Amino acid sequence: MASYDVIIIGSGPGGYVCAIRCAQLGLKTAVVEGRDTLGGTCLNVGCIPSKALLHATHMLHEAEHNFATMGLKGKSPSVDWKQMLAYKADTIAQNTKGIEFLFKKNKIDWLKGWGTIPEQGRVKVGDEMHEAKHIIIATGSEASSLPGVEIDEKTVVTSTGALELSKIPKKLVVIGAGVIGLEMGSVYARLGAEVTVVEFLDQITPGMDVEVQKSFQKILKKQGLNFVMGAAVQGVETLKTKAKVTYKLRKDDSEETIDADVVLVATGRKPFTDGLGLEALGIEMADRGQIKTDGQWRTNVDGIHAIGDCIAGPMLAHKAEDEGMAVAEVIAGKHGHVNYGVIPGVIYTHPEVAAVGATEAMLKDEGRAYKIGKFSFMGNGRAKANFAGDGFVKILADKETDRILGAHIIGPMAGDLIHEICVAMEFGASAEDLALTCHAHPTYSEAVREAALACGDGPIHS
Ligand code: FAD
Ligand code: NAI
Repeated sequence: MASYDVIIIGSGPGGYVCAIRCAQLGLKTAVVEGRDTLGGTCLNVGCIPSKALLHATHMLHEAEHNFATMGLKGKSPSVDWKQMLAYKADTIAQNTKGIEFLFKKNKIDWLKGWGTIPEQGRVKVGDEMHEAKHIIIATGSEASSLPGVEIDEKTVVTSTGALELSKIPKKLVVIGAGVIGLEMGSVYARLGAEVTVVEFLDQITPGMDVEVQKSFQKILKKQGLNFVMGAAVQGVETLKTKAKVTYKLRKDDSEETIDADVVLVATGRKPFTDGLGLEALGIEMADRGQIKTDGQWRTNVDGIHAIGDCIAGPMLAHKAEDEGMAVAEVIAGKHGHVNYGVIPGVIYTHPEVAAVGATEAMLKDEGRAYKIGKFSFMGNGRAKANFAGDGFVKILADKETDRILGAHIIGPMAGDLIHEICVAMEFGASAEDLALTCHAHPTYSEAVREAALACGDGPIHS
């Protein structure tokens, strides 16, 4: 029986990052992974493939809409879908092989197969039993389904099927106006599909800043996405190669149907812990299937930790990674910490949407006095030159102390711009600290500085 300091189950961003940190800290480490490749949901069927398709289709959109204006004349590119999928597959392979290389470099063993935990300190993979002082569960999540909706990953798909469609659908219905629905909806709208998003609530991207939600929906509508809001999906009927989606409008209970070549079900994800044997071990679970952990990612069973999508908190790759690093530090007897107040969230549409920290709704709930500094990308020279004037930066700061409490950006490179504010928040900076920092011209980042200036005496360019 092989013996390890740490065995991690799952090689997603939580598991693989944790393994590398454990190895760096001198712990003998193995990772159990049942997929054929390392990297989990994120690298195989999540973050990376979706961003490859978003990038390719954004290029197409630029060629179709903006090239001629810049004097770049000629035929727009035509779409070779097979080649686009091959580019996506190659991007995945480069990333998953990269993790394999890092495992070898750090002397981490990959135990291939699906793992179970038959008892404390033991992990079974196939017929092999392994011993570990510490076990870390990093088994991630899976798409959740709706009652009355049967997924076949061909006509009725989750994000996994949507990343691998045999052809571009003429009509795509997306159930759920969350992150997956809007990213994948954008991909197919840019490829010429008629995309209709059916959402239960009255606004898209629940939990986001309300002004961002409104502006975002308006921009997406301009890009050709249709929205049916306040609609509860009742069921999806598949008819050979087509499907019919039935929904009830919440305002008057009227029932309507819509036809589709493909239906993408994007109504959230749930923790994946099947087959681990958690019940027999007596591991405490929360109502929504997450493994319960304390502030140091310990479960109620000694020597068993859990991180990433299978525990509470936002289901994001970087949140899983941070927990992976922190739990490794804790196990090695060091100090591991994750600041859950400063975890950015990004939607990789065009424009991008990014947020960190509190929303106005949260601050109002807390009864906290705050001020708002806002700046439109219309006032940013770089954005204007690049057809990226849609959107704004909004910074929320404490009314008394000027300390930054949150930020919400819709606009070009929002997913990169947000990190300046994350760092500022980690250092407890005020809006004035950002406003007094010299920002290079002409950059999108100047819009962040202008929003910070707007928290004080006012921005320059509006
Ligand atoms: P996972 O990445 O889910 O990895 C868990 C791994 O454990 C899997 O490989 C699984 O095979 C393995 N496993 C499970 N059980 C066992 C077992 N018993 N034995 C062996 N192996 C097992 N997040 C972002 O931050 N940015 C994005 O842009 C983004 N885009 C996304 C796009 C899509 C379409 C999807 C679906 C998700 C996206 N996410 C994104 C979310 C992100 O993928 C997850 O938050 C992240 O992968 C969670 O990491 P994890 O390590 O907790 O689990
Ligand atoms: P989500 O939670 O973001 O959105 C689900 C949407 O579906 C919500 O708007 C919800 O109101 C709606 N909905 C639920 N039931 C419905 C019904 N019966 N009818 C109509 N609408 C309904 O979930 P999503 O988009 O599936 O993403 C899952 C997770 O994956 C997210 O938590 C996200 O964090 C992660 N992810 C992150 C990405 C990123 O960081 N860029 C990209 C893709 C996924």
